[in-house]
Amino acid sequence: MRYQGREVDIEGRVRLVMESTLTARDRVGVQDFVLLENHNSEAAFIENLRRRFRENLIYTYIGSVLVSVNPYKELEIYSKPQMERYKGVSFYEISPHIYAVSDNTYRAMRTTWKDQCILISGESGSGKTEASKKILLYYAVTCPTNHHMTTLGDRLLQSNPILEAFGNAKTLKNDNSSRFGKYMDVQFNFKGMPVGGHILNYLLEESRVVHQNHGERNFHIFYQLLDGGSSELLQMLDLERNPQNYQYLVKGSCSKVSSMSDKNNWKVLMNALSVLGFTEEDLQNLLNITASVLHLGNIQFGEGEEGETHITTEMPIANVAKLLGLQASSLSEALTHRKFTAKGEEMIIPINFEQAISARDALAKAVYGRAFTWLVDKINQSLALKDDMDHSNKAFPVIGLLDIYGFEVLQRNSFEQFCINYCSEKLQQLFIELTLGSEQEEYTTEGIAWEMVPYFDNKIICDLIEARHKGIIAILDEECLRPGETSDASFLEKLEDTLGGHPHFVTHKLANGKTRKVMSREEFRLLHYAGEVNYNVDGFLEKNNDSLNRTLKEIMCQSDNEIISQCFSREEVTDQKRPQMAATHFKNSLSRLMDILMTKEPSYVRCIKPNDTKQPGHFDEVLVRHQVRYLGLMENLRVRRAGFAYRRSFEAFLQRYKPLCPETWPNWYGRLHDGVATLVNHLGYQEEEYKLGRSKIFIRFPKTLFLTEDALQAKKPEIALTLQTSWRGYRERAKYKRIRHAIIVIQSAWRGMKGRRRAKRRRLAAELIRRFIKGFIYRHEDYCPDNDYFLDHVRYSFLMKLSKNLPTSVLDKSWLASPPSVTEASEYLRALHMRNMVMKYCMRIQPEWKNQMTQKVVASEIFKDQKDSYPQSVGRLFLDTRIDREQINLKVLQTLGSDKVQYGVPVTKYDRRGFKPRSRQLLLSNTFAVLVDKTKIKQRIDYAALGGISVSSLNDGMVVLHLPSEDNKQKGDVLLHCNHVIELVTKLALMARMLNHVNIKPGSVSFAGARGNEGIIDFVRGSEFKVAKGKRGHLLVTAPRINTT
Ligand SMILES: Nc1ncnc2c1ncn2[C@@H]1O[C@H](COP(=O)(O)OP(=O)(O)OP(=O)(O)O)[C@@H](O)[C@H]1O
Ligand SMILES: [Mg+2]
Repeated sequence: MRYQGREVDIEGRVRLVMESTLTARDRVGVQDFVLLENHNSEAAFIENLRRRFRENLIYTYIGSVLVSVNPYKELEIYSKPQMERYKGVSFYEISPHIYAVSDNTYRAMRTTWKDQCILISGESGSGKTEASKKILLYYAVTCPTNHHMTTLGDRLLQSNPILEAFGNAKTLKNDNSSRFGKYMDVQFNFKGMPVGGHILNYLLEESRVVHQNHGERNFHIFYQLLDGGSSELLQMLDLERNPQNYQYLVKGSCSKVSSMSDKNNWKVLMNALSVLGFTEEDLQNLLNITASVLHLGNIQFGEGEEGETHITTEMPIANVAKLLGLQASSLSEALTHRKFTAKGEEMIIPINFEQAISARDALAKAVYGRAFTWLVDKINQSLALKDDMDHSNKAFPVIGLLDIYGFEVLQRNSFEQFCINYCSEKLQQLFIELTLGSEQEEYTTEGIAWEMVPYFDNKIICDLIEARHKGIIAILDEECLRPGETSDASFLEKLEDTLGGHPHFVTHKLANGKTRKVMSREEFRLLHYAGEVNYNVDGFLEKNNDSLNRTLKEIMCQSDNEIISQCFSREEVTDQKRPQMAATHFKNSLSRLMDILMTKEPSYVRCIKPNDTKQPGHFDEVLVRHQVRYLGLMENLRVRRAGFAYRRSFEAFLQRYKPLCPETWPNWYGRLHDGVATLVNHLGYQEEEYKLGRSKIFIRFPKTLFLTEDALQAKKPEIALTLQTSWRGYRERAKYKRIRHAIIVIQSAWRGMKGRRRAKRRRLAAELIRRFIKGFIYRHEDYCPDNDYFLDHVRYSFLMKLSKNLPTSVLDKSWLASPPSVTEASEYLRALHMRNMVMKYCMRIQPEWKNQMTQKVVASEIFKDQKDSYPQSVGRLFLDTRIDREQINLKVLQTLGSDKVQYGVPVTKYDRRGFKPRSRQLLLSNTFAVLVDKTKIKQRIDYAALGGISVSSLNDGMVVLHLPSEDNKQKGDVLLHCNHVIELVTKLALMARMLNHVNIKPGSVSFAGARGNEGIIDFVRGSEFKVAKGKRGHLLVTAPRINTT
């Protein structure tokens, strides 16, 4: 059950899918075998493997060696996030994984700038090829890349499906068994980017092309082509879809593999070929060769009466000839005859039936085998580091990946198994030398007293096989070259003669009774480091010899097929020197491989196969024990543990456990050695429990380490708290600093802006002032650029000020003093404003008021500055009348008739003679005035007859109405006194239209008396109004002085 990325077991305990620290060890064994308490027990070792396997923990370390058990099912541990987990993380900090090995190797390559290699070993089906693919994938995904590198990563990955199609086959052990050895170099540049790749291939199992054991298949490519190729393609290649029609595909009676789809793999292959840059032509040639091999298998022979051989099937030969661009007749001839030179003469002789079959098979094997080599070369061209990219490529380090056949024991073991197991033996030797040897060396270099642990050195077996002159390969070669009758049996005899008595070599003849029972007479037995294997000598000589005869080679040289013509060279035919024997060739290439590997820093992946039935979850203890033994894992562990179970560099140890000691936590600044010493002292390690080397601490018992680890786990919450606290503090401080910085930035930007603005304002102000002053200087000039601003400003400010100080009433005569430049406008405005005010005022006034005003204006025109009493009258309103209609006698009113009284006022009339005062009412109508004495109209004065009106200039109420003397009805001028003299005179002047006839006299007024006598009224100023007779018959009127104070 999964719960939020964790797995919950039956008891409900939650644990991580892959444990991430050593703490998970209790539940799923130990993740490093060196921590096994009982390190000598094979059972404990296997039990640990089994427990972990059951939990899907397929990887376990022995020190730095990775042991991997094939899960036979997809596990979710190869995803990109998983890759990220392992990137740059220390080997021991995280659960064992193929990615940890990949990453560690990569980092070692980058830090030491030294070539590395990862050696993957294990028996067939144990997961070597899968492991190597995982490693490649890890590099392709996690290494830095640029565009070119991305495509290189792709090409590296895509080389696998091609090589697998042509080099892998279903065997009884493995549905996808690699039938060739592969060593691949990946080159990295100084930035750690993969920039190039190179593949070395070893000994393809060519015999599979012509024969397969029951239940096995030929190479995948044949089935993929028949199943996945389009009908047109098959037609072009003259192939039929049914594999049963091809003799080379029927031997194993197994043309389908349930675990793989040939159709899909065909598509994958086609895609891979195009990624790697194979041209259409290359592809065509390659498929022609593949098809021609199938047709070759169908060539049948018949035996003539005289023992000669002939070809009985025409179509296959024609097809082969067509596909490989050969002449069918010469091919037929070459398959049934043999050329040889005797006494300088070239002779052609027919060959027998068996020889013809083996010649055909040899041709098929050679064609396929050489095409495979061509394929590898072609892939290498595509992966090669491009020179134009980097010229200093020579110095680039590489990581080598070795995925080579595992130790193999079949029912019947032949030459191929001999070679494969020899290879295993060599690799084991390298492993021993580099791992076990170096382990012991480490104690020496670290200066730790130490007793050497014996381990089995398989050098003796390697020597048995490869020793000069007396090794099995040397004997085989000799037997092949020896003139005279040689056979596989004679080879076996020779082996017995030379190697009899060797502790690792047995034959039927040499064996004891018990062994004889399980050995046939054609077999020899080698006691390999991994176990005993019986090899059947049948076919050894033929397979070791280059079995393709010269005639066929010559024919092949004529091929039109580009690939074939590259694979078969003319020199080979003409060269008289014997070619290298297959075993020797293999031995030499293995020796070169060992040289390559010796120069590199190795890492190991040891693959184990949990069962023979390819079942997930099934752990076959017997099978696993066997592999554990022959892989030498126990020895490996024993050596690692002989002295000390655990070692770690001072730095790594201190880094992990420093929280356990106050002196070393959080940092130790002294020497690392002293730091570790202080730490272990604090932890109370006993003397026998550990040793300090030169750069590493060695801990003898796992228990000691576990206790330390437990203490660390117990301490973790505290550490976490401390880390949390300091992290939060750090985070807050950082936040505060960020904010503070931001504030400062904003502040300075704001201040800067403000400063700039102020400076700009000042500059503008200075400019303005300058302009202003200049304008002031030139203010009397005409409007020009020198004074325009100033004048505009003066005008503007005057107008603005004026707008705020305009007089609000028509009486207000104030006006702002204007500067000279706007005088004219000012005056104009003043008039305009006044007119405007007056207009508004006028629009506002009532008719009565207007009338009043008209009268007042008239009064002003007449009396202003003429008469003393005028100013007092200005403030008093003129009334419509001072005598109401009711106050006038009815009779008078009747007399007046239609002439309406417009104005009436009480007056005092003075007689012209004697100046007697009499009270009268003066009534004004539109055309005349009447003086009324109570009920009687005393006098009527027509306005038309009125000659003028005189008043004094003083403060008196005297009025003289001048009447024409010739008018008899009139008795001279009328002298009146009225308290409202201004009002009366104004109204009278208006009604009688006498405005120009009102006389204002300063000292005296003359009047006409009765009968033309002239009278005079003298006016003087006095304290109060008084009318009296004066001198010379004058009337003296005293007018009161106006009190001005
Ligand atoms: N890590 C793995 N996860 C899942 N399945 C695996 C893993 N490793 C191996 N297998 C399964 O086991 C099969 C055999 O593995 P592989 O082909 O790598 O074996 P091998 O060691 O290369 O054998 P040979 O020596 O025959 O080439 C694979 O096809 C695959 O189904
Ligand atoms: Mg393989």
